[in-house]
Amino acid sequence: MENLPYSLAQQIKDKISPRTPQIALILGSGLGEFAKHIYNQLTINYSEINGFPQSTVPGHQGQLICGTLANKEILCMQGRIHLYEGYPASSVASIIKAFKLLGIKTLIVTNAAGSLHKEMAPGSLMLIKDHINLSGFNPLIGRNDETFGPRFPNMNTIYTPEYISKAQSIAKKLNIHLHQGVYCMLSGPAFETPTEVKMCQIIGADANGMSTVPETITAAYCGMKVLGISTITNYCSGVEGGSPTHQETLETAAKATTNLSQILTSFIGEL
Ligand code: HPA
Repeated sequence: MENLPYSLAQQIKDKISPRTPQIALILGSGLGEFAKHIYNQLTINYSEINGFPQSTVPGHQGQLICGTLANKEILCMQGRIHLYEGYPASSVASIIKAFKLLGIKTLIVTNAAGSLHKEMAPGSLMLIKDHINLSGFNPLIGRNDETFGPRFPNMNTIYTPEYISKAQSIAKKLNIHLHQGVYCMLSGPAFETPTEVKMCQIIGADANGMSTVPETITAAYCGMKVLGISTITNYCSGVEGGSPTHQETLETAAKATTNLSQILTSFIGEL
């Protein structure tokens, strides 16, 4: 496992060479359609990379796409790996560490999340300004390889402040309302009970989800800049009568893809 990032990076490098993307993008549940905006696509199925965790969830295609968006080379994960699939957080970390070895400097993460507030309706977007990790795991547990980052990384500005301002000003220009809030990760796969949802509201979360945090902790540890955007797919259990299902998540995420695509394309163009 300790050598996995090196082996993943080598295999990906061999396949995408001579391309050298510096931006990685992770597409969350129901957001895979965004990939159609990428030009000059070179597609690598996760199964073609030895040791790469396989995506097992409907709505997650399970392939890496290397191509250009807004004239920038990007490496896109169409479908992610979740802890609830049985993968340890360190598997998710290995992918991000491999990205670091490939020269990725910016990580953009998207996900589907449930809203904890009446005012943040399904179909809207939330810029992640910070997170609460209630998954019970940390991707950096285990022996530390200083090549990637320090043993005790600081998480003060895990979501890059400069990127938060940039995304907000882009959304304003595009006339798209972009909420801003705290993303809370729970392991899933069961959705929360109404009482757990109340707890998340009390501790300062704005949206709940089952992903993203392992990737962003690892990226910040590796010294990458991070932008995170949640698609609000539903109200959480008990909020405004919310009673989430995976189907609702996928359908609403797909509907919000247009606004998300516009923001991401402009954002990447300005990097
Ligand atoms: N809770 C947790 N994860 C989610 C939700 C939710 O309501 N919606 C989409 N992912």
